[in-house]
Amino acid sequence: MTRILMVCLGNICRSPLAEGILQSKLQDRGFFVDSAGTSNYHIGELPDTRSIEVARKYGIDITNQRGRQFQVSDFDEFDLIYAMDSSNYNNILRLARNSKDEAKVKLILRELMDYETINVPDPYYGGDSGFEHVFQLLNEACDRIVDKLS
Ligand code: 4NP
Repeated sequence: MTRILMVCLGNICRSPLAEGILQSKLQDRGFFVDSAGTSNYHIGELPDTRSIEVARKYGIDITNQRGRQFQVSDFDEFDLIYAMDSSNYNNILRLARNSKDEAKVKLILRELMDYETINVPDPYYGGDSGFEHVFQLLNEACDRIVDKLS
C-alpha cells in the first residue's frame, strides 16, 4: 500500500482538491490518499465551498473531508508528501527529523516538467476562477503522479 499525503496551508482549498483528484484517479487500487494543512487555522472544517463546487463540477465529491494539521507522525504514516507551494514545502521540511523524512517531501508541480512555476497559487482570497485554475493544475499533476506510480 502506497500512502500519499497532500499538504497546503489551510487544508481547505488546494490539498483537499489534490486529495480528491488523486483518489478519483487511483480508485483505491493499493493506494491511500489523505491531506493536511501546515497551519491549525481550519481544523475540523469542511473544505472551502468553492473547492467543493469545482470538484463537484468534475464529478468528485470532497465533502467527506475535514481539515487537519500536518504532524510529525505523518512522516511515519506516509511514503510521499506533496506540498502545494514552496512555503508549505519549507514548513514541512522544518519538521523533518532525518534525511529519510526529507526525502519523502516533494513540490507537486515539479511533477509537471513543462510548468514554469513551482507553486499552486493560493486561491483563498480570490474568486472562483482561481479554483478552476487550481483544479486544472492539480488534475495534470495528478495524471503525472499516477503515471509514475503505475
Ligand atoms: P489552502 O488555502 O492553503 O489552499 O487551504 C488557504 C486557506 C485558508 C487560509 C489561507 C490559505 N487562511 O489564511 O485562513
